[in-house]
Amino acid sequence: MKVEDIKKICVIGAGNMGHQISLSAALAGFKVSCTDISQEMLDKAQAFAGSYLAERVKKGKLNQELADQALANLSFTNSLEQAAGDADYVIEAAVEKIDIKRRLFADLDRITPPHAILATNSSFIVSSKVADATTRPDKVCNMHFFNPALVMKLVEVVQGPHTSAETAQITMELCEKIGKIGVLLKKEIYGFLVNRILAAISKEVYYLVDMGIATPEEIDTAVVNALGHPMGPFRLQDLTGIDLGYYVAMERYQETGNPNDKPSPLMVEKFVKGEWGKKTGKGFYSYE
Ligand code: 3HC
Repeated sequence: MKVEDIKKICVIGAGNMGHQISLSAALAGFKVSCTDISQEMLDKAQAFAGSYLAERVKKGKLNQELADQALANLSFTNSLEQAAGDADYVIEAAVEKIDIKRRLFADLDRITPPHAILATNSSFIVSSKVADATTRPDKVCNMHFFNPALVMKLVEVVQGPHTSAETAQITMELCEKIGKIGVLLKKEIYGFLVNRILAAISKEVYYLVDMGIATPEEIDTAVVNALGHPMGPFRLQDLTGIDLGYYVAMERYQETGNPNDKPSPLMVEKFVKGEWGKKTGKGFYSYE
């Protein structure tokens, strides 16, 4: 297969990442079918696409014809069969739970055409953890976008030991077609590049708050004004989802048994309260 053979992309998950990955690919001219088990998430994603495109046109950043085309390229369905049955490329952006991902990859292997590439947008999990749930491990890889996916340019592509060079190359070319900058890792590592760096920062800032040294607001002010980051680590957690941080830490802790991998008490408190960030209207900050 060549990148030119990719006509239809299926995106699994209409959440934080999936809805913007879908729209990015639709804007690049691909037919995109976005699927989720939650009709509410699909409805929200569809509404977002309409209002985002209208806003871009209003701002003069997109012409009406391209906006109409992107909208026409997009479809939303809660049927995995319908979304993936004729897909040439699948980007799985479901919840960060390994059992669910493995089940999805087994289903996708059964449903999609044999030539289809199956990529995971997992934030931390390397694709070898899901590739063996399929009969086509050579066509399985990581394709990791960043939040907000319509804005952030980088995509990490990870070629596992099972991934063919062709799959990695097509995925890198697909990044370019979607207007992204792909970075290819030829060795699998948990969390890849960016999230390992972010995890190191996150560990330290949660420690500082848990120890009563500073508040999340003070730390964000320090990081923005001293390091020049566009947003501080706690505001960033609100954007990416405190639930995601919690699931990732719990999965890791269950795997390693290392108490250092446990989520921080503050993260647990936020998770239990349902204060997961922007998506719930409250995290470390409040949102309208
Ligand atoms: N969705 C889509 N577009 C958005 C957006 C969103 N949620 N938020 C902002 N934008 C767009 C705006 O429309 C605007 O576009 P324009 O310049 O073409 O008109 C542009 O981004 C700038 O927006 P604003 O002026 O409103 O706000 P900022 O200048 O503060 O930028 C930001 C917002 C782009 C989110 C910036 O604060 C930023 O880059 N933050 C850091 C984000 C980051 O670090 N992401 C990586 C997170 S880690 C991750 O994703 C890993 C994963 O595994 C969890």
